[in-house]
Amino acid sequence: MSTDGPANICLVGLMGSGKSTVAPLLAGRLGLEHIDLDKEIALRQGRTIMMIFADPGEESFRREEQVVLQHFCSRDGLVIDCGGGIVLAADNRPCLKSNFTVYLQTTPETLVLRVGSAAGRPLLQGDEPILDRLAALLSSREPLYRECAALTVATDGRTPVEIADQIIAHLPTSLKPAVS
Ligand code: S3P
Repeated sequence: MSTDGPANICLVGLMGSGKSTVAPLLAGRLGLEHIDLDKEIALRQGRTIMMIFADPGEESFRREEQVVLQHFCSRDGLVIDCGGGIVLAADNRPCLKSNFTVYLQTTPETLVLRVGSAAGRPLLQGDEPILDRLAALLSSREPLYRECAALTVATDGRTPVEIADQIIAHLPTSLKPAVS
């Protein structure tokens, strides 16, 4: 890899946009390391994301998310699968912008199919229909995803392989595998 330009790929988008399927696929194709930020947070805390949201709560989760993002952003050669709320903290956005951030754009109708029962997703619990909740989250976050992303890929009706292909076709030179 070249030393100039973005050093990591970050995937952003709502729950169900396909980040956790596309990230390992992309990492495998490019010979990069895959990091799942939610898994890292759960490991550090020794508890699931649901448990952290229940106690000590979302604010504490967001602080931890920021610490973990900064940690991995200081490395290189990673495909970072970010939680859907990563763009909420203003301090996270410069880090996303300095890497090659890809927004996996997905309609609420597709998201609702992909998240299924929403098990393990604290923000989708409660009585509000999941479709309405996802639509509300999308309308508040979409401008932030777009602000941070160098590339937007529409995922509705497309396979993870097609999505990974599109990302690879748009990679900056700094992230292209060296040709030997
Ligand atoms: C969240 C998304 C989740 C997880 C947490 C909060 C969000 O990650 O970080 O439940 O705010 O959208 P995924 O987007 O990977 O499901």
